[in-house]
Amino acid sequence: MRSHGCGDLRSKHIALNVKLCGWVDRCRDHGGVIFVDLRDSSGTVQITVDPDQGAEMFAIAESLRNETVLQIAGQVRARPPEAVNQKIKTGEIEVLADDLKILNQVRGILPFTVSVHDEEPVKEELRLRYRYLDLRKERMTKNLRLRHETIQVARHFLEEEGFIEVETPVLTRSTPEGARDYLVPSRVCGGQWFALPQSPQLFKQLLMVGGLERYYQVARCFRDEDLRSDRQPEFTQLDLEMSFMSQEQILDLNENLISKIWKKVKGVDLPVPFQQLTWQEAMDRFGTDRPDTRYGMELIEVSELMKDMGFKVFSNAIAGGGSVKCINVKKGNDSISNVRIKPGGDIFTEAQKAGAGGLAFIRVREKGEIDTIGAIKDNLSKEKKQELLTKTNAESGDLILFGAGETMIVNKTLDRLRQLLAHELDLIPRGEANNQWNFLWIIDFPMFEFNSNENRLEALHHPFCAPNTKDLGNDKNLWSSNLPKARAQAYDLVLNGLELGGGSLRIHDPELQTKVLEIIGLPKEEAKEQFGFLLEALEMGAPPHGGLAFGMDRIVMLLAEEESIRETIAFPKTQQARCLLTEAPAKVSDRQLKEIHVTSTWEDPE
Ligand code: AMO
Repeated sequence: MRSHGCGDLRSKHIALNVKLCGWVDRCRDHGGVIFVDLRDSSGTVQITVDPDQGAEMFAIAESLRNETVLQIAGQVRARPPEAVNQKIKTGEIEVLADDLKILNQVRGILPFTVSVHDEEPVKEELRLRYRYLDLRKERMTKNLRLRHETIQVARHFLEEEGFIEVETPVLTRSTPEGARDYLVPSRVCGGQWFALPQSPQLFKQLLMVGGLERYYQVARCFRDEDLRSDRQPEFTQLDLEMSFMSQEQILDLNENLISKIWKKVKGVDLPVPFQQLTWQEAMDRFGTDRPDTRYGMELIEVSELMKDMGFKVFSNAIAGGGSVKCINVKKGNDSISNVRIKPGGDIFTEAQKAGAGGLAFIRVREKGEIDTIGAIKDNLSKEKKQELLTKTNAESGDLILFGAGETMIVNKTLDRLRQLLAHELDLIPRGEANNQWNFLWIIDFPMFEFNSNENRLEALHHPFCAPNTKDLGNDKNLWSSNLPKARAQAYDLVLNGLELGGGSLRIHDPELQTKVLEIIGLPKEEAKEQFGFLLEALEMGAPPHGGLAFGMDRIVMLLAEEESIRETIAFPKTQQARCLLTEAPAKVSDRQLKEIHVTSTWEDPE
């Protein structure tokens, strides 16, 4: 139907007769001549329709609506010098049409304009409802191509490294990855349910037992969890597993993979090896296990300094086993008013969201004088004040914000404030020239964290991570007491505050696996019922193995410099986990429910 792509034509094609297909991006009537911008996936080109070339054809051009699907035949010619458009690749030429055929009309009203010239923001609901139109826009076309390219580079790299792609089941048992499962009832096995995989975790381990040694998969995963801009109920992992490799070798291989992607897709040379931070250090310095290290404002521990100063909020926090930490907001005095920090203010409210009861602060004035509300000022001795200013590197004009209480809540609070203020005060270097790619491995995670709601330990990543052998010790009798305090041989890859991927070495000893399951509250019998197949496989010569999974949507989001992973997925779900285009999820008939032995307990709120 066509000889060229619209966006591929250049000066070298001048005098060539071409056939093109595409959509009408826009039409302009220039006193007797009509210019049609014709767009296909390769770009746009200007078609000139001159009445001298045929009245019938000109009449069609006059009636064209945007987004009509056209086929044109014509000759490429140079644009007059004053009409050259250097902004587009085809800007030096145009095509003089000698035939024009409508392949399909736009019948209804277009919900929004698609044209590359139209930069009016369109509401996201409308974009998702008519996603096929939205996909015609340059932004989405570019993002999906970039996604394709990223996956292609990864595939190529992994295949050169001897990995093979294996598909694992989508109808499976639930694996305890932490989120709620999407369940699928079985028609054939009445009363029983499949779960859609939260990740291919156990199957990839079984592939290692199966002797594959190097596996990868571009795997669709499903998690029924609260959605945010970096989370979707179904998302894609680049999932890897390998046998007979140390943690350092696995990290090294993955750094090379990521570097290759950044080089090929962005043209950026990433410095390797990536920085590493232990989980403990990340929590101490940033209050989070996925710190954004592009700016400072690190958390400073001042418990020791504040413990005896007589300010109850601080001393009680420390006496209760918690801590007092602070951040120094450089030059924060001018930009941040007391109203914002006091109860009801937005910064105070942000702290409250993290569980903080209050938000103490100090304003540093000229000559080291400090200004604050009540208690701190009255109780802080001259020496302590000086020590605090030195420790926080505070100068006149700075604002120091404190968190006091349970360490976890203090960390969470100050992490939130640090992020909020860094955005507000524009501390994050941005823009093509300034972009920083601060890749960071977080290592030495604890094996478990305490779930206070359920009063039990739960696995921080998942219960298949191998413990650090030093922390575990050689004596099996000490496993029960050593394991809860042990670090895992687990690692996350963080980029500028976002977790891009995570993984670990796995347990390949069935006894140790059983013990770990016991610690998270699965006694032997239950463990056997849920994970018998894994424990059995570990009995049959499982090799030492480990792996990792990257969130592909997140990687593409960062490469595309987008704010949401929805911009990197062709047909994403909304925050309510709905597809606005197909209106899924939707009701099904009673007959269908009966067939799968399910009755609904749902009652409409009405
Ligand atoms: P984890 O649960 O950390 O590890 O997931 C790996 C990566 O997947 C991405 N991710 C998501 N992306 C979009 N939407 C979501 N809802 C979502 N949830 C996770 C993140 C995350 O880092 N089986 C282990 C991996 C392993 O141990 O090998 C796992 O799934 O970028």
